[in-house]
Amino acid sequence: MSQPDLMLRHVNLPDGRVDVDVAVRDGRIVGIGPALPGEAHETVDGGGMLLSPPFVDVHFHMDATLSYGLPRVNASGTLLEGIALWGELKPLLTQEALIERAMAYCDWAAARGLLAIRTHVDTCDPRLLAVEALLEVKRRVAPWIDLQLVAFPQDGVLRYDPARDHPGCRDSALDLLRKALDLGVDVVGGIPHFERTMDAGRESVRLLAEEAARRGLRIDMHCDETDDPMSRHIETLAFETHRLGLQGRVNGSHLTSMHSMDNYYVSKLIPLIAESGVSATANPLINITIQGRHDTYPKRRGMTRVPELLAAGVTVAFGHDCVMDPWYSLGSGDMLEVAHMGLHVAQMTGQQAMRQCFAAVTEAPAAIMGLEGYGLAEGCHADFVLLQARDPIEAIRLRAARLGVWRRGRLISRTAPATAQLHLPGRPSQVDWLAARRG
Ligand code: FE2
Repeated sequence: MSQPDLMLRHVNLPDGRVDVDVAVRDGRIVGIGPALPGEAHETVDGGGMLLSPPFVDVHFHMDATLSYGLPRVNASGTLLEGIALWGELKPLLTQEALIERAMAYCDWAAARGLLAIRTHVDTCDPRLLAVEALLEVKRRVAPWIDLQLVAFPQDGVLRYDPARDHPGCRDSALDLLRKALDLGVDVVGGIPHFERTMDAGRESVRLLAEEAARRGLRIDMHCDETDDPMSRHIETLAFETHRLGLQGRVNGSHLTSMHSMDNYYVSKLIPLIAESGVSATANPLINITIQGRHDTYPKRRGMTRVPELLAAGVTVAFGHDCVMDPWYSLGSGDMLEVAHMGLHVAQMTGQQAMRQCFAAVTEAPAAIMGLEGYGLAEGCHADFVLLQARDPIEAIRLRAARLGVWRRGRLISRTAPATAQLHLPGRPSQVDWLAARRG
């Protein structure tokens, strides 16, 4: 075997293996195990820190990101003002500004070790401005980020009338969505709970699922992002997935109405989701701030039933959804912050549950996106992140620094370790918040 290009020595892995070496050649992992023999062209000492496959965000809105304050801030912080604000911003968007903001976000993402993102892109625009902009961004960042685009009819594929905004436009919202797919958008989106009626919502799910089936595409719908327990479009999505044989290719995003549903109904619904091979994505930062806004007290959390879905064998991911846009003024592309919030909101504080929260921002979304060569095993792409933490739970606790980020075996970002210098009598000169090693 010829000499590896890169060897990372003394790293821990998310599956619990400790003090492992990882050898890389030609952008792939060619060896992984304890004390690998031989020398590489370059060796990095991991110092007993956690080496993770890259973070993956399977639910994002890159056409809106970093637009916070344009044309004004969301004064109430609510979903409806956010949607109204996006409507005000849309006519003012330019392709250059969209590309610039998305590229800036991708820089943040790379520095955070976030190397795969599924972003929705609004297709309710006869110009398809954002679609064209994000296709260009996808092309530009391809060497370092896998970007997957979802054709997302933000204003409802049946509700939105393009001629209202652009008199003379003959396309329907479905025509615009199809044009986006023809241009190369990867996934079919939808927003059934935003259609005018429950019937229209159901009809939109059927139409869009059939469109995806015809084209052999994956589906990712904003589904039941409401506190209304009667919003049951996930049931239709699971049924259509089964009917059209789309198992393993369909994701329901948000599913917040499940939080408020009747328990008896949910006892039927979760097995349907599991048997249909539909995955779920919760967006903890957004769900906890947007949902429950009509409540006084007690105030619902609004996040979907993550532990129960996991227990039924459903693949569940946590997405970021928004960073500094009309809906959410915070965030920095840190999927550990997302996992941290998800863990708290879902009360997933058991040891295995905390590890599942780490998987919800790594392995689970990678599976939902269908990423090829993802993971830490021989033959996988040499894409990984060295974290300033010894295990996944510590990584979440500390929102650990990304000491190094590699893509195809090449270092693309480095962050200095988080440490503080102390000036206290009789105390250590430095702290890094890592747990003390025992034994
Ligand atoms: Fe979203």
